[in-house]
Amino acid sequence: MTWELKEFDVVLSTNETACDYPPFTVVIAGRQLKGRGRMGRVWQSPLGNLYASFVFPKTKTPPAFLSFLLGISVVQTLHKPLALKWPNDILLNGKKCGGILLEQEDDKIIAGLGLNLSSCPKSGVMYPVTHLGYRGTPALFTKRLLKSIEKNYELLETKGFPYLREIWLSHAYGLKGPVKAVLPNKELIGTFHDLTPNGELVLITQDKKEHLISCGDVFFGKE
Ligand code: BTN
Repeated sequence: MTWELKEFDVVLSTNETACDYPPFTVVIAGRQLKGRGRMGRVWQSPLGNLYASFVFPKTKTPPAFLSFLLGISVVQTLHKPLALKWPNDILLNGKKCGGILLEQEDDKIIAGLGLNLSSCPKSGVMYPVTHLGYRGTPALFTKRLLKSIEKNYELLETKGFPYLREIWLSHAYGLKGPVKAVLPNKELIGTFHDLTPNGELVLITQDKKEHLISCGDVFFGKE
């Protein structure tokens, strides 16, 4: 499947603009005036970084798999020691350099990717951040990234998630280490044991009980 690239100088949010386009379109913008992150947070969007939204068709495949697919594709595109933090953060040297926001619109899934190619927010974020020191343009990066996305989407369609799951696990941040999950009604502390075939995080508490985490904020190691 080949993707069509739509480029804008400035938009409110590429995730919003992408809603107007059919599947297999990617919308990128130089800046976003109302970039949004997970959990209603703001995604600061200065010039020079990547703000891209990929329109996927809604299929039987759980939307969360597309987030893993995007993360893996970023890792494969850049020759850097990146790690993937469950569920949808991209880290360099333990610091966040990218994030993914999945949204549904009618029969489409909009997968928004923000990547600090050349700068990072100076203030207003609650976690350590970094950038990739990438010298090319966001459009050039997107074209390279699309090659990986096409390959991985084909794999997901033909072989299902198990293959991508293995790749994701090989880049997983904090695997087998301590993890704290902050859920709407409780906190769980334990070990990040595995990723289920459905993309849930397997957390094992001290009493050896297994908990499957499908949403919420998770904190690894000394975070
Ligand atoms: C996160 O909270 O980590 C996810 C951030 C996702 C930001 C991207 S930038 C492109 C797309 N448009 C948005 O408004 N958000 C996503």
